Amino acid sequence: MRKAYIAGNWKMNLTPSEGARYAAELAAAVKEAGVDCRVMIAPAFVAIPAVVEAVKGSPIIVAAQNMANHTSGAYTGEVAPAMLKDAGVKTVILGHSERRQYYGETDEIINSKVILALSEGMDVVLCVGETLDERQGGRLEEVLSRQIKVGLKDVSAEDMARITIAYEPVWAIGTGMTATPEDADGAHSFIRATVASLYSDDIAKNLIIQYGGSVKAGNIKALMAKENVDGALVGGASLSLEQFLPIITYNK
Ligand code: 13P
Repeated sequence: MRKAYIAGNWKMNLTPSEGARYAAELAAAVKEAGVDCRVMIAPAFVAIPAVVEAVKGSPIIVAAQNMANHTSGAYTGEVAPAMLKDAGVKTVILGHSERRQYYGETDEIINSKVILALSEGMDVVLCVGETLDERQGGRLEEVLSRQIKVGLKDVSAEDMARITIAYEPVWAIGTGMTATPEDADGAHSFIRATVASLYSDDIAKNLIIQYGGSVKAGNIKALMAKENVDGALVGGASLSLEQFLPIITYNK
């Protein structure tokens, strides 16, 4: 049985004090509502220590939105895995389409980050997804297949237990255009089949695949009802308790 995993990617929103205030409310609400899915939030780097402190004692996972592909040294502006771990973070989102699109991260760079994170004992949420052009050009499967094969290159079967894949069609991010539950399920099923061909049916069966792209309280239920949708990676609607709580309590 795959346990539902719902994550909030705060992107470049919420200062340390805003983040800590909200995270403390969220921790209390998770307890009060008896939330039974895995819940993760990913604040900006500078907000991580305050947010970790705010959710102490709660099952909420605090993750980073990105990480360097080096362990230390002269890499101005970058944050190393050891720094994240020291700050209380054990999970990192890698390969988000905004990192690919605006900061030139290639599948190879993302793969080097995945390998480093795993070797440092961290869990990874690896993001994949096609642009509108790629989808309309009939290249959905080719793009997903490349992002997965290169992104997971040299990842051992054993380490696959620490990988979550987030399918985020670029055209559905922040646009209000959600993939239909059928679109999401179809892409997720292709992702699962790709992982089965690279590893094994068992590993593919246990793989958690999140959907991301305009997830809201109003569409989470229909998405989660699909066989291959195991969770969500939420952007805009993860920034307030009013919007995020109904998402993580979709099954209540
Ligand atoms: P939105 O939920 O704002 O569309 O963002 C999705 C996303 O990119 C999460 O990583």
